[in-house]
Amino acid sequence: MQKTFDNILTKTIKENLQTKYIGQNIFYKEETSSTNTDAKKLAKENAPNGSLVIAETQGAGRGRLDRNFFSPKGKGLWFSLILRPKFKIEDAPKCTLLAAVAVALAMEETGVKPEIKWPNDIMRGNKKLVGILTELVTLSANDYAVIVGIGINVNFTESDFPEDIRNIATSLAIIKGENVERAKFLQRILFFTEDLYDKIETEGFGEILNLWRKFSVTLNKNIRVINAGDKREITGRALDIDEDGALIVKSDGKIIKVLAGDVSIREVGN
Ligand code: BTN
Repeated sequence: MQKTFDNILTKTIKENLQTKYIGQNIFYKEETSSTNTDAKKLAKENAPNGSLVIAETQGAGRGRLDRNFFSPKGKGLWFSLILRPKFKIEDAPKCTLLAAVAVALAMEETGVKPEIKWPNDIMRGNKKLVGILTELVTLSANDYAVIVGIGINVNFTESDFPEDIRNIATSLAIIKGENVERAKFLQRILFFTEDLYDKIETEGFGEILNLWRKFSVTLNKNIRVINAGDKREITGRALDIDEDGALIVKSDGKIIKVLAGDVSIREVGN
């Protein structure tokens, strides 16, 4: 993958980018299979901390739980960040929370209220706007990189979505009634990512967790969650997320910690 600035999207991202390292190195492709796959390869080839891998379209965009992620040309932001954290590898999954909060803060500035649904989707009502897929790359015994892949439905119209996801997906443009400038929006996401990432070193993850709680539409609701591992259905009250982003659910008087899964908010009794 070439590092290139000879296209309008990367040129505009670079102009007045308010960061020191996040997004300062851009790897751009008009078309790729998955920016996460590209980013993993680049991480192994020593791409610097904060590198941005972005494509106009992905032929095989990947979602959580082995799902596909629809990423048509020019309609959204499909990108991955390569992070080389100094903190211990056990803390790496928290980069997903960081990413969700950074996108939420940037989205708030566009006038669209972000609703984070556990674990890391950003929604409008029950329709999805943003998905995040975080993956780890082990480089040596003491060295690793985190790939944070973010997909945002920015300028889709209703008919741009295939029929099978039209009822479960939406876009910023549909909500706002006008298009959003992708490069400017991405610049703000990169800015907030760097700001939160820098603070981890001095202050830990406290601010990220608190902001995540603030934007959450899952907490303090009666929910049904399908546990990713054993596919068990758990119903109960979502109380909180713990330090690692696991969902704490009170179900039949018992406290259960759910590490990964799919959550739906129950209609009754919220
Ligand atoms: C999900 O909602 O399940 C996560 C979706 C993550 C999609 C993004 S798009 C950019 C990056 N490249 C991928 O293949 N996936 C992530």
